[in-house]
Amino acid sequence: MSTETKPEYSPGLAGVIAGETQICWVDPNAGLMYRGYDIHEMGDKATFEEVAYLLLNGELPNAKQFAEFKEQIAAQRELPGPVVQMLRLLPRGTHPMDMLRTGVSMLSAFDKDIGDNSHDANIRKSIRLIARVTSLIADGWRISHGQEPLPEKTELSQAADIFYKLNGKVPEAWQTRMMDTIYNLYADHEFNASTFAARVTASTLAGIYAAVTSAVGTLKGPLHGGANEESMKMLEEIETPDRAEAWLMKHLAAKSKIMGFGHRVYKKGDSRVPIMREIARDLGKRTGKENWVPICEKLEEVMEREKGLCANVDLYAAPVYWMLGFEPELNTPLFAASRVAGWCAHVTEQHDHNRLIRPRSLYTGPKLRKYPGPVKTA
Ligand code: COA
Repeated sequence: MSTETKPEYSPGLAGVIAGETQICWVDPNAGLMYRGYDIHEMGDKATFEEVAYLLLNGELPNAKQFAEFKEQIAAQRELPGPVVQMLRLLPRGTHPMDMLRTGVSMLSAFDKDIGDNSHDANIRKSIRLIARVTSLIADGWRISHGQEPLPEKTELSQAADIFYKLNGKVPEAWQTRMMDTIYNLYADHEFNASTFAARVTASTLAGIYAAVTSAVGTLKGPLHGGANEESMKMLEEIETPDRAEAWLMKHLAAKSKIMGFGHRVYKKGDSRVPIMREIARDLGKRTGKENWVPICEKLEEVMEREKGLCANVDLYAAPVYWMLGFEPELNTPLFAASRVAGWCAHVTEQHDHNRLIRPRSLYTGPKLRKYPGPVKTA
């Protein structure tokens, strides 16, 4: 067997440029740009539909395009009956991310564009996926809590729909605005693990549903999207700001990973944290729960001093969702309800300019040895 010169190796693909994209740029110096627009300018002003349109189509919509896009999404929200039936068959206690992954996979069978990876078909399927990811999360949640899914209200935006579909109440304008901003912050982040998983799947010319199924499965892990659920558990355990330092020192001494801290790309702060921190502060005042931000700030201070690590967006997203009335198990699904726009834009870009993603590995197993022959059975 021939030997070969060892290619360059970067564990975890750190620092490796694995492809080109025109969709999003993560600036290691705490910046984030969607198709050339700074998230700090757009995040708290644009609606999620505007951002989703931008990610998918490359330009912001005009008034007509915006109205049509919103209508198209709202019209696609209802899940096919058998998919709702499937949600009923899952055991109580199934994690909503597992429901979502199974649901996205099943939805593929009901899409008439299933076999078409053309640009236009991918955009049509993206609209359905953006609409139905929210429905899978909300309908699945209600069913697993002994409630029935609610009838659609097509006049609602995506940000308002998630409140309505989960608890039956149309949210106040300020809650919808807040959710639009949160969704905008989460909508894309270039080659993060779930998007990369989606692009790897798409690069085999598998379809967008297969790619988004891969992405949902990847997002669930606590080192990625699952961190916002784990962060809330941590904050609840800490309970008050005066307990934060001792809690953190104990866990650092035990070499635990602290959820909501660290990032592969950002080393000088996560671009999304200042906006999310302000939302948390605002919500603290509105709800009278002003403990969470000081706990997070204390953790930030000690983490910076002890490890030189910055908070990431999931630290502040956790109390934000909590104060908006969502259970921690919904934190990662809420991330998915927004990131699906980014996943779909990346899958479309991958299919439009495809090359199979297939890296090499560094073999560290046994040297070549002689096969001793088949197992001798008695
Ligand atoms: N808590 C404790 N230590 C951490 C840490 C954390 N959250 N994040 C990084 N570190 C440590 C690493 O263990 C490493 O220590 P070592 O040099 O002693 O081995 C050092 O900091 C550098 O880590 P780095 O190479 O920068 O991390 P990474 O790029 O491999 O991993 C994450 C990035 C996001 C996976 C990692 O920071 C993490 O696990 N964070 C917690 C989960 C989380 O919040 N995820 C959401 C990300 S948006």
